[in-house]
Amino acid sequence: MEVTIIMHEHNLHENEHFFDHGAAKYDKRLTQFWMKKFYKPALHEIKTEGSILDVSCGTGNLLLELSKRSHKDLHGIDYSQQMVEVAQAKLKENATIQKADVHHLPFKENSFDYVISTEAFHHYYDQQKALQELVRVTKKMGKVIICDINFSFKNIHQLFHRFEPGHVKINSKNEFRVLFENVGLTQIRQKRHYFFALKTVGVKS
Ligand SMILES: C[S@@+](CC[C@H](N)C(=O)[O-])C[C@H]1O[C@@H](n2cnc3c(N)ncnc32)[C@H](O)[C@@H]1O
Repeated sequence: MEVTIIMHEHNLHENEHFFDHGAAKYDKRLTQFWMKKFYKPALHEIKTEGSILDVSCGTGNLLLELSKRSHKDLHGIDYSQQMVEVAQAKLKENATIQKADVHHLPFKENSFDYVISTEAFHHYYDQQKALQELVRVTKKMGKVIICDINFSFKNIHQLFHRFEPGHVKINSKNEFRVLFENVGLTQIRQKRHYFFALKTVGVKS
């Protein structure tokens, strides 16, 4: 048990360190070329007005797109303080953004119509607990949307596992479905985008 907690803390701080250092350069064109491929598919899922939480929002580019589309009730969290500060400067009063760990979200149950995580799930140290948290803060009939890395050529996953700081696990399509089923999400849909991204969507019933 103690070893598990130390592992979790190690992972959390590795992520914090890595993304704190990357925040200033995160909006460069090449990085964003990659990131857009994950958050654009999530945007397609937002079909109505409502409250939206972007978990691990990074520098806030998904929230910025939503605010340009006149969405009002926008919120973001990220564990990297530097990412949070870039996002806050960008969004100003158009969204509330704060530092938090996905495993302990600072929101009441049933708070949001849409809860999203893009290109971040493979960094979470306890993925089932993280998903439970996303579901807890989603309103009844609200949508949980996760877009994460999933290469058609699985060998690339080992490279990420070895070389990406803060990396925990890239899930297969079936593993994502099982994670969603385990937390009681229904109407589960999955769609591959390009050869490296997978979107999984579920509804809280
Ligand atoms: C690759 S970035 C993706 C950022 C953003 N979603 C995007 O698409 O541009 C991954 C983000 O996950 C955040 N992150 C990692 N572990 C986290 C945790 N336990 N809780 C909250 N955010 C976390 C990192 O700080 C980082 O900003």
